[in-house]
Amino acid sequence: MAWKAVRILCFMAAGIVLATAAVAETGRNVTFADEAGNNGAGENRNPFHEQKMEMIEKQIAARGITDQDVLSAFRQVDRHRYVPSHLQHMAYEDRPLPIGEGQTISQPYIVAFMTEALSLSDTDRVLEIGTGSGYQAAILAEIVEHVYTIEIVESLGRRATEVLDAEGYTNIDVKIGDGFKGWPEHAPFDAIMVTCAPTDVPEPLKEQLAEGGTMIIPVGQAWDQKLVLLEKRDGKLVEKESLPVRFVPMVDEDGKTY
Ligand SMILES: C[S@@+](CC[C@H](N)C(=O)[O-])C[C@H]1O[C@@H](n2cnc3c(N)ncnc32)[C@H](O)[C@@H]1O
Repeated sequence: MAWKAVRILCFMAAGIVLATAAVAETGRNVTFADEAGNNGAGENRNPFHEQKMEMIEKQIAARGITDQDVLSAFRQVDRHRYVPSHLQHMAYEDRPLPIGEGQTISQPYIVAFMTEALSLSDTDRVLEIGTGSGYQAAILAEIVEHVYTIEIVESLGRRATEVLDAEGYTNIDVKIGDGFKGWPEHAPFDAIMVTCAPTDVPEPLKEQLAEGGTMIIPVGQAWDQKLVLLEKRDGKLVEKESLPVRFVPMVDEDGKTY
């Protein structure tokens, strides 16, 4: 994986994540259209098909994502289904977008990069922390056996559940709660992906990673984070790679940062 080659891109992208989060709170009601996937003819054809294919080619494959399972997952999942209806025309652009509650759907390239980094297989059971829109969970669910995903903001968790159900996913469980604690009832997990940043890797997540499993997690303070790829070997987490990034912070149920 060309981990170092994407360092600058990731950093820029993460900067946009925060910038976008800042404009997310406009006070308007965020609505997601049920008819989003329709083309006006009553079929579920993606009206943004060409934009989606261009996104995969220019933003994902051209930047070095080669894992065929990841590329295939991106072809299967319609990103516009996971964003508010007034932003659907921007769904395939090279940027994160606001999804309400001051949160964002990540930039497509970041989703692809983090997914590829986990080297997933079709028998894996994966834990995601930070469901957000549900888009990343859908990409994971195209590749692995089962996805468990946790979102702390109730309205986002409910909305993601609705979209994922509507899209027909039967291998994703969404829980509303604090992902810092993981999901011990379903542990151990073959892989863990965290899409919000605590200051340190949470102990429960370390414990809930299977032996030989991998975790990708942004760690650090608001302006000094790194995206870390960890592997569990002989019960200990070994850092494989890291690069500078900027994600939204992981918070507890009172909104305090971890
Ligand atoms: C960058 S967004 C995630 C994007 C998401 N993966 C997607 O595909 O749309 C980060 C998410 O982490 C959530 N979050 C923050 N702290 C959390 C926690 N302790 N447990 C679970 N989710 C948390 C935020 O509410 C937000 O929805």
